[in-house]
Amino acid sequence: MAKISVSTLLKKKQNGEKITSLTAYDASFAQLFADNGVDAVLVGDSLGMVLQGGDDTLAVSIDDIAYHTKCVRAGSRDLFVIADMPFMTYANVTQSCENAAKLMRAGANMVKLEGGEWLYDSIRALTQQGVPVCGHLGLTPQSVHVFGGFKIQGRDKEQADKMIADAKALEAAGAQLLVLECIPSVLAKAITEAVSIPTIGIGAGKDTDGQILVMHDLVGISAGYIPKFSKNFLLDTGNMPDAVKKYCDDVKSGAFPGPEHEFN
Ligand code: KIV
Repeated sequence: MAKISVSTLLKKKQNGEKITSLTAYDASFAQLFADNGVDAVLVGDSLGMVLQGGDDTLAVSIDDIAYHTKCVRAGSRDLFVIADMPFMTYANVTQSCENAAKLMRAGANMVKLEGGEWLYDSIRALTQQGVPVCGHLGLTPQSVHVFGGFKIQGRDKEQADKMIADAKALEAAGAQLLVLECIPSVLAKAITEAVSIPTIGIGAGKDTDGQILVMHDLVGISAGYIPKFSKNFLLDTGNMPDAVKKYCDDVKSGAFPGPEHEFN
């Protein structure tokens, strides 16, 4: 059993302690992250871009995520491991349950699904059957073609109100964690205050209950492009363990993300 559980993460929110999280795709980095202060890792479908070299995440399969989840779990028994449900693997309740089971059997502690209120029935079924669920709102990369690109979401009032309602619906369905990606900081703060489950932000400002980064962005090797919301922690530290420690320290102290990493 991982040292960190959904209860640990919830307690952190209740105590005002920040949650530290990174993506991970293999055993060596999972071990390094476990040894240097990371609470939770996400086996993200971002692997379609950073490992497989794709332009988006849509080509990632459930077998890809199951394989990398197994690798990550082999790296550390202690880490809380969240595994992404890829594009079109949770289009209905039956498909959601079958595919989530593959990831849980591969070693995940929780699965993550992108989307709002329409996921209500799937999340209810998953949690009733013993699968903890993380929601994901904002710039949900599996919908990149609907958005017309990787664009900040929730900037107008109608979108923002809908996102707050979606967050409440996900919590009501049974989700125990919520990722908020690339939204204005004020909206992330409002969502974080509107739900009692922890929120983890990426490009969502400093007021979420925790932070997550794609690990390649943390060390400045994301195809030559560092997103505005990220920071190369290797520059100041010079080695991987210290870069991870510094990231965790800065998240916990509130030094990261700074105003320069936020969207309005
Ligand atoms: O796939 C991923 O890595 C993600 C994070 C960016 C949150 O969903």
